[in-house]
Amino acid sequence: MAGYVVVGTQWGDEGKGKIIDVLGHKADYVVRFQGGNNAGHTVVVDGEKFILHLLPSGMLHGNGKCIIGPGVVVDPKVLLKELSVLDAKGAKTDHLFISDRAQLIMPYHVTLDILKEDSATDANRIGTTRRGIGPCYADKISRCGIRMVDLLDMELFAKKLKLNLEEKNMIFDKIYNAPALSYEQILEDYKGYTELLKHRIIDSTPIIHQALKDDKFVLFEGAQAMMLDIDHGNYPFVTSSSPTAGGVTVGAGVSPRSINRIIGVMKAYTTKVGAGPFVTELNDETGETLRAVGHEYGATTGRPRRCGWLDLVVGKYATDINGLTDIVITKIDCLSGMDTIKICTAYEIDGKIHTSIPASTESLMRAKPIYEELPGWQEDITQMKNYEELPENCKNYIKRMEEFLECQITVVSVGPDRTQNIFLKDI
Ligand code: GDP
Ligand code: IMO
Ligand code: MG
Repeated sequence: MAGYVVVGTQWGDEGKGKIIDVLGHKADYVVRFQGGNNAGHTVVVDGEKFILHLLPSGMLHGNGKCIIGPGVVVDPKVLLKELSVLDAKGAKTDHLFISDRAQLIMPYHVTLDILKEDSATDANRIGTTRRGIGPCYADKISRCGIRMVDLLDMELFAKKLKLNLEEKNMIFDKIYNAPALSYEQILEDYKGYTELLKHRIIDSTPIIHQALKDDKFVLFEGAQAMMLDIDHGNYPFVTSSSPTAGGVTVGAGVSPRSINRIIGVMKAYTTKVGAGPFVTELNDETGETLRAVGHEYGATTGRPRRCGWLDLVVGKYATDINGLTDIVITKIDCLSGMDTIKICTAYEIDGKIHTSIPASTESLMRAKPIYEELPGWQEDITQMKNYEELPENCKNYIKRMEEFLECQITVVSVGPDRTQNIFLKDI
């Protein structure tokens, strides 16, 4: 039985898509377990770039099956568009299936997300991806969500839509002074989506269980990351799901006993999109350099990503909460050319030293980073294939990460392409 999990260890965009793609050629199943099209996962194959939002990043191999699991929120319009992009490029798409338990993102979720964000004060705005993620998960927890399975019974779907839309239209009118959405239009649109998607809607739960029993390789693909976790991230500047390893059992419907390896993807520096505390943020020339060299612009929204030094307080938190068995370092090539590189190993908050993340987001806003300084390296490492080739100072940086995090570093990614990797250990 081989259940592998890939999760983000920072604020997202660590390169999870690339790593899933690298491991994906051997996978019998690649399963998304949470989040929705707030994700933007980049896969580069022979110089061609694919950005996947809802589709699992194993799609491009076509060997195994790809599943959008029960814990995912699905916008069918976005899903169909993504499939059509792959179809147009001649890529295989008939290996994609969607759990009948997955929640549907409805147009009123997207509208509500946008209205809430636009009407919030600067201090309260989360900076969401405006894709309807939060309102859809809110309805799920309130037990009024509509699921993929409901699309298979249009009469039932219509009833649920009517009930939900009446309430949402009242909110649009009374709270936001915004126009109502049309019941007839949504019904017609979702009937159309159903015709195109119904052959892909399955009960994924027994299929995944059987695969694990048959000793198949099942790869669980996390979206978002540690610090965006609804329970353990910088609340309220988080997403509405559980992107940590614990989320796999809930979102895919598998036992913790079926997970063998938990792989954390960690960028060699830190980036974040959206509002909220970011202790090692660099609002200076170095931050601009990281953004330019790392092309740090959101894969989903195109927003410039906030950039800063590596925060190992966050790294340790992610290692412990996820129980990481392996770490993959990405984008270390983007640090070439720096004279010195800083690593944050603790915070100072109101005169006290903290080595773990405090719950109070307000106090985290006042945190000052405590840094270790390491000498940099000048060489371009993007074509290197072996650990021995790496500059001594780059190796020291990797060793310091491994020592601090107390977790083996298995792969060092040195470029966006699926071939640009240095394997330190078998994975
Ligand atoms: P994800 O959301 O975690 O899948 O990450 P994104 O795709 O949003 O952002 C990661 C970006 O870094 C993408 O543009 C990748 O192509 C790119 N990338 C991934 N790994 C590396 C790497 O090791 N080096 C460089 N230079 N780019 C990388
Ligand atoms: P991947 O999978 C980076 C952030 C948003 C915002 C917060 C809440 O590509 O790493 P939401 O729309 O989820 O309600 O927004 O979470 N966010 C991400 N940031 N990468 C992502 O996904 C993200 N998905 C959501 O910017 O701060
Ligand atoms: Mg991304």
